[in-house]
Amino acid sequence: MERVLSGMQSSGRVHLGNLVGALQNWVRLQDSYECFYFIADWHALTSGYEHPEGLKESVTDLLINFIAAGLDPDKCTIFIQSKVLEHAELHLLLSMITPLGWLERVPTYKEKQHELRERDLSTYGFLGYPLLQTADIIIYRAKHVPVGIDQVPHLEISREIARRFNNFYGDIFPEPEALLTQFPKVPGVDGRKMSKSYNNAVYLSDSPQEVEHKLRTMATDPARVRRNDRGDPELSPVFQLHKVFSSKEEQDEVAEGCRTAGIGCLDCKKVLIRNVFRVLEPIWDKRQQLSNDPEQLKSIVDKGTEKARKAAQETMVLVRRAMGLV
Ligand code: TRP
Repeated sequence: MERVLSGMQSSGRVHLGNLVGALQNWVRLQDSYECFYFIADWHALTSGYEHPEGLKESVTDLLINFIAAGLDPDKCTIFIQSKVLEHAELHLLLSMITPLGWLERVPTYKEKQHELRERDLSTYGFLGYPLLQTADIIIYRAKHVPVGIDQVPHLEISREIARRFNNFYGDIFPEPEALLTQFPKVPGVDGRKMSKSYNNAVYLSDSPQEVEHKLRTMATDPARVRRNDRGDPELSPVFQLHKVFSSKEEQDEVAEGCRTAGIGCLDCKKVLIRNVFRVLEPIWDKRQQLSNDPEQLKSIVDKGTEKARKAAQETMVLVRRAMGLV
């Protein structure tokens, strides 16, 4: 089986966009590939180094979400980045051959600095973010990396660095490819892209009451002021969410009801709420169960970390030898 690797940064909570865009895809891949999935807690420190206090909780919460969303520890390897020190060793060794200009030119570098301009991100670690990501990937000699389109520049530099390493020291690393799967864009409750920075997200950790409230109070087509005003579903963020969570028949039904004023906005939202609940209910149950069982979580992640470490160590034997470190 070919290897797949992906990671998620442990900063902030997991929302429906992360679920549909990443985690559900990871779950699908675990049957056909040898999958490694990890929590990137060092990456969280590259921009969050001033506030390490929430890190432990976010790592635990992310781990719970991984499993609650359907990652099966019997099928895939789940681990924590900072528990496999070999990533740091490879990151260091790769830093020897990485031209500064390559890192400075990664578009996310300037973009993120601008986005998070209240933080001081003129650090060595932040510049090295894509290099650490490269080490995460190639240390497993992974072929496929399921990521969102925003991560494509990081995969690009990963390939360039793998190639440069192979040129200097012999063929050790395959060039990893982004695995971009088609999935629907999940809009937030205000119609913009769902994102924690827009304050428009529905989180897996939200209670049923919170989710219901967020969806019930969503804006709809502004033309539908009164119950018998006709609307255009395409102008309603609620309908955009129906496209992700409701069946084709339900979408047709609410769209028709909206155009003819046959149904009210609340009727439309109730269908959506039911469908979002259907996705979230098993996740809530599993979250609840896992939160009450720290022993189980620890055993899952210990086992995964051990497996990952073994794979990483195999690569590092080759790397050290290739770089004269024997
Ligand atoms: N940069 C990724 C993100 O923000 C997280 C990440 C770290 C990652 N290392 C990785 C993703 C390796 C894929 C492979 O989502």
